Amino acid sequence: MKRILLLLILLLPVTSWAASYQQIVATKFGDADVLTLVTQPSLPEPSAGEVRIRVLTASASFTDVMVRKGMYGGAPAEPPLVPGYDLVGIVDKLGPRVTGVEIGQRVAALTVWGAYTEYAVRPVTELVPVPEGLGDEAAVALILSYTTAYQMLHRVAQVTPGQSILIHGASGAVGTALAQLGRVAGLTMLGTASTRKQGYLRSLGVQAIDYKTEDFVSRTRQLTEDRGVDVAFDAIGLDNFKRSYETLKPGGELVIYGLYTATLQGEAGGTGSLVREFLGFKWQQLLWNWFPSDGKSAAFYSITDMRDEHPDWFHEDLSTLFDLAVAGEITPQIWQVMPLSEAAAAHRHIEDRAVKGKIVLRVSR
Ligand SMILES: NC(=O)c1ccc[n+]([C@@H]2O[C@H](COP(=O)([O-])OP(=O)(O)OC[C@H]3O[C@@H](n4cnc5c(N)ncnc54)[C@H](OP(=O)(O)O)[C@@H]3O)[C@@H](O)[C@H]2O)c1
Repeated sequence: MKRILLLLILLLPVTSWAASYQQIVATKFGDADVLTLVTQPSLPEPSAGEVRIRVLTASASFTDVMVRKGMYGGAPAEPPLVPGYDLVGIVDKLGPRVTGVEIGQRVAALTVWGAYTEYAVRPVTELVPVPEGLGDEAAVALILSYTTAYQMLHRVAQVTPGQSILIHGASGAVGTALAQLGRVAGLTMLGTASTRKQGYLRSLGVQAIDYKTEDFVSRTRQLTEDRGVDVAFDAIGLDNFKRSYETLKPGGELVIYGLYTATLQGEAGGTGSLVREFLGFKWQQLLWNWFPSDGKSAAFYSITDMRDEHPDWFHEDLSTLFDLAVAGEITPQIWQVMPLSEAAAAHRHIEDRAVKGKIVLRVSR
């Protein structure tokens, strides 16, 4: 009897340790300090149609910063919340009535929030298999930023070889993805970035425009011998949209996909409610009121809206991106890999605009 008791006492801490897991929780909306590493006492259990995933990598993105600040419409209304727009992990447990995946399989998911965690539960319909030959870090870097870039190029603008594009924020996560995929699509590329990133843009095959010292409208005109570009991609902000529209050639298209600068100013400049209003997707009104009917056009892209409307496109496009990476046609631009526990530092790097490409969070191995 004594022996059995001793054995139980010895096993107890091991059992509770094995069932606990860690995640990053935003305790309230605010700056990066609100991100806290929390130990949860027991693993989440998958319900019908769901699987549990042991997370290997997540990415840190500007959109996570918006979720953390309470400026993103698609996240839970109130904290505490776990940020993290995308993840790669191993299927760890199947809920009832799950078919099509196996325990041990490596999968990718666009979670929107909830990826900064060692274990996540997701609907099986959301998962995309990750092929052999693609690393966990490269794979996660492709989910949010590259799918956004790919769908804007091929689903919205439907670019053809030889066309020209203007990429704003070309050193960022989506910008570098547009640059790499634009090269694969045979496009001529112009891009804006701050002074210190001009050389980096050129290394991506982009004709660099310094938005700090140059007027990007006249510089685009000059670089295209006054023709303008076929498509401009802009997530910078309200004034920028109108100016980007001026860079288009007749029949050209402006693709709007975010409010980067306005979001950053939200804290300092008190424009938070404006940002929330637009991120509440009053985009149609914005587009109709702002742009004259002159043969050019403007469209708004949202990865979640497109996935809701065309889930099959999301699966197809992410699989295409995985294949392009395995074939060496694209190489995800990863600026740094940081441990999950350093998520707050990753967010600060993003807000300081230090990043070129993407930050990946290593969650487990
Ligand atoms: N609609 C969607 O589905 C979707 C999907 C993904 C992302 N987004 C949005 O897209 C935006 C960009 O995301 P991201 O992940 O690429 O961000 P990111 O990696 O932080 O890159 C943005 C970059 O833009 C540059 N920048 C800042 N002000 C600029 C200006 N006035 N002109 C040109 N460049 C400027 C900054 O670098 P420098 O200032 O040093 O050049 C910054 O690094 C965010 O608003 C995000 O929420 C939307």
